[in-house]
Amino acid sequence: MTVALSTERLWLDPLDPVRDAVDLHVAFTDPEVTTFKSPVSRDVQHSVDRLTEMVRNNDYWVVREAPDGPGIGFVGLIGGNGLDWLLSRGVWGRGYATEAATAVIDHAFRQPGVDRVEAWVDGANSRSLALARRVGLTERGQMPQSGPGTRVVLGKSREPVPTFVINLVAELEVDDVAASMGLFETLFQFRAAIVVGDPPTYASLDIGPWSGSRRLDLVAAEGKPITPSSLTVELANDLDAVHARAMAAGLRIAEPVTDRPWGRREFVLVLPEGHEITVSGPIGT
Ligand SMILES: CC(C)(COP(=O)(O)OP(=O)(O)OC[C@H]1O[C@@H](n2cnc3c(N)ncnc32)[C@H](O)[C@@H]1OP(=O)(O)O)[C@@H](O)C(=O)NCCC(=O)NCCS
Repeated sequence: MTVALSTERLWLDPLDPVRDAVDLHVAFTDPEVTTFKSPVSRDVQHSVDRLTEMVRNNDYWVVREAPDGPGIGFVGLIGGNGLDWLLSRGVWGRGYATEAATAVIDHAFRQPGVDRVEAWVDGANSRSLALARRVGLTERGQMPQSGPGTRVVLGKSREPVPTFVINLVAELEVDDVAASMGLFETLFQFRAAIVVGDPPTYASLDIGPWSGSRRLDLVAAEGKPITPSSLTVELANDLDAVHARAMAAGLRIAEPVTDRPWGRREFVLVLPEGHEITVSGPIGT
């Protein structure tokens, strides 16, 4: 059961979809507030329905400036540790979201078994990213999303994490490291960060232009038989362009471009050594 919380300036009551919909409808019909929280509600009943869906199995608090004042927004805990928040436009810029989210995070960390909280924020949602950082969340990764761009995953642990893995490096054995480097650069714009040998016997490819990006290592098989592996490359965009480049490079396409029921558009290409690469991107790109 969701319990009431309070802060210096705010009252956080368990959100009741029917009672609170009229107040929150103000925010749900504001195009600025719903930029990253679409759709704009059609009518109050639509707002009731979406709030009902939100509170199903999740804890949500309506935020008020006075015990009997109108709802000016909400903070939610999805599945016990996923943060969600929204304030009406008129009360942005006062630190209310910081205060309310801090109370909810403190509450989450008082629950048995909750050792971390996280927020999934559209990379273009600068106010939400700033809020997440203000309440102590730091960037942990990125996830694909159905629209353009990516979702940034920000998180905070209750206690420092003793073993904190920041990356996992995949390694592929290939016949010709130089040729494979060229292929990965053509297909995905991977860039060689380290190349060893002439001709190369090892290359470490950064998957993006930035320092510290995820990596793929290529190692020369040097005549040994190669056991084919499978990898998935998750794209934020451009899937059809990558498919066209794979075709132009003469690669075998084991599975054509297909929109999957789990909301991703995918195809499978096969490298000359038999490695299968599933290329996955958002539907509609
Ligand atoms: C995300 C959202 C809740 C953030 O609201 P916000 O008003 O920017 O955040 P806060 O309430 O914490 O206010 C912080 C601002 O108030 C200022 N402030 C004033 N008094 C303050 C105080 N006592 N304490 C902290 N900050 C204070 C801060 O300096 C900051 O100003 P800045 O934005 O100019 O840097 C709001 O933009 C929103 O509802 N967005 C739409 C919903 C949405 O996209 N949700 C995303 C779900 S992932």
